[in-house]
Amino acid sequence: MVSFKDLGLVNSRELFKKAMAGKYAIPAFNFNNMEQLQAIVLACVETKSPVILQVSSGARKYANQTMLRYMAQGAVEYAKELGVNVPIVLHLDHGDSFELCKSCIEYGFSSVMIDGSHHSYNENVELTAKVVEYAHKYDVTVEGELGVLAGVEDEVSAEHHTYTQPEEVEDFLKKTGVDSLAISIGTSHGANKFKPEQCTRNAEGILVPPPLRFDILEEIEKRIPGFPIVLHGASSVPQDQVAIINKFGGALKDAIGIPEEQLRRAATSAVCKINIDSDARLAMTASVREVFANKPAEFDPRKYLGPARDNLKELYKHKTVNVLGSANRI
Ligand code: G3H
Ligand code: 13P
Ligand code: ZN
Repeated sequence: MVSFKDLGLVNSRELFKKAMAGKYAIPAFNFNNMEQLQAIVLACVETKSPVILQVSSGARKYANQTMLRYMAQGAVEYAKELGVNVPIVLHLDHGDSFELCKSCIEYGFSSVMIDGSHHSYNENVELTAKVVEYAHKYDVTVEGELGVLAGVEDEVSAEHHTYTQPEEVEDFLKKTGVDSLAISIGTSHGANKFKPEQCTRNAEGILVPPPLRFDILEEIEKRIPGFPIVLHGASSVPQDQVAIINKFGGALKDAIGIPEEQLRRAATSAVCKINIDSDARLAMTASVREVFANKPAEFDPRKYLGPARDNLKELYKHKTVNVLGSANRI
């Protein structure tokens, strides 16, 4: 058993308190490899933003749990070496069982998500409460979820949104003791969040997706004032990155994300954590494709992963400064 405190990590409690008071959201960026992690650290150091490093169960299988633990510790030390003491949370994204959450806590995670949203309400409550009881013994914070996002989450997929029912949230919080709650108000995972036929065209001919259900968010805020809310599936799918990918041999069709203005609006509400993974995947893929297309003789991984890392860093900086408002909050 290693405590997250020994790794220099923090849990999400204080960060969410400050985010709520300051009307911004903490970025939760997924990582699977060194270049992504370096880009996150560099961006958060340069913009002085706290950060949540997210690891999905797929990432854990890909990178190995022991590697991840030392990488997170390395991220803390790297930020210090760069002269900024960035508060860093190591968070399990979409934990699907008590055993997985327990194992992550034992490996030094400071926060876990138990995603019981695909179960019945009572099963979700029971599973979440069990994780909270264990996690709180170690001061690890827990995110639960009510409502189901459309799209694919790990191996589970749902065709339609099941929006969070505001009338369930107080009971869920009371029975589980969670520290934050992920809700479903129209975001979804991946790069194809909306079908073109769901969108309208603006004056410039750009497809505009239907707005998020801020009415549901407001109703939830009224029922649980001051309680930290989490938005999953919050990538904006930057069209310049999609264009580069497609220009250099990619085949991304109808890739549409959440407009940044909507995320900015959400960040000023009770939404304290905003999850972004797909945008980083797009940025990395765009850079790698561009290098491969322009320099077909190149075979040194540093020559394509290096530009990908630079591009990623810029993307993350843009998020902290212009979208989440978490820059200069250290
Ligand atoms: O919510 C899903 C995250 O984007 C993680 O994706 O399970 O493919 O690592 P993954
Ligand atoms: P995106 O696919 O929109 O980046 O969402 C990521 C996420 O919610 C991770 O849990
Ligand atoms: Zn998610």
